Amino acid sequence: MERKEFLNLVGISVGAVILQNCMSGCSKSSDPSPATPSTTTPSTGGATPSTTGLTGNNVSSKGIIDFTIDLASDTFKTLQTNGTALVSGDVIVARTKTGDFLAVAKACTHEGTTVEFVADNSSFKCNNHGSVFDANGSVSVGPATSALKKYTATFDKVKNTLKVA
Ligand code: FES
Repeated sequence: MERKEFLNLVGISVGAVILQNCMSGCSKSSDPSPATPSTTTPSTGGATPSTTGLTGNNVSSKGIIDFTIDLASDTFKTLQTNGTALVSGDVIVARTKTGDFLAVAKACTHEGTTVEFVADNSSFKCNNHGSVFDANGSVSVGPATSALKKYTATFDKVKNTLKVA
């Protein structure tokens, strides 16, 4: 090998090493890291993240009560049956014997005990001191003197969901 050929080969090799170092250095400084898949639960506009079958906020201390429940979900499938009820957050949601939905604040206005749904007359009873509230949350029997807050419950037959707000 002649001197000229040797120098050409060395020059190419050195150039390749410099180029490689530059590329790796440049890629570190200017290329962003590959995107990492997000594990964040999609937001619903500041509402409570979905638990199974629930979207929105069902807790009054977190803001306005406004949520939707999926009656096909395991959590809420009870409400597919007339004459049933369940508590979701701060709200008791009931389905009357005729299939209408009711939703009122779960806490008795007397001293805060969670009320129970009485399907026979679509009322809500507090077993602590005996207050009774009608289907609209109004007091029927004391000692409570103020009504349970009533929410609007809108059933979507097609989606099998219930919106409470
Ligand atoms: S807490 Fe409900 S009647 Fe007293």
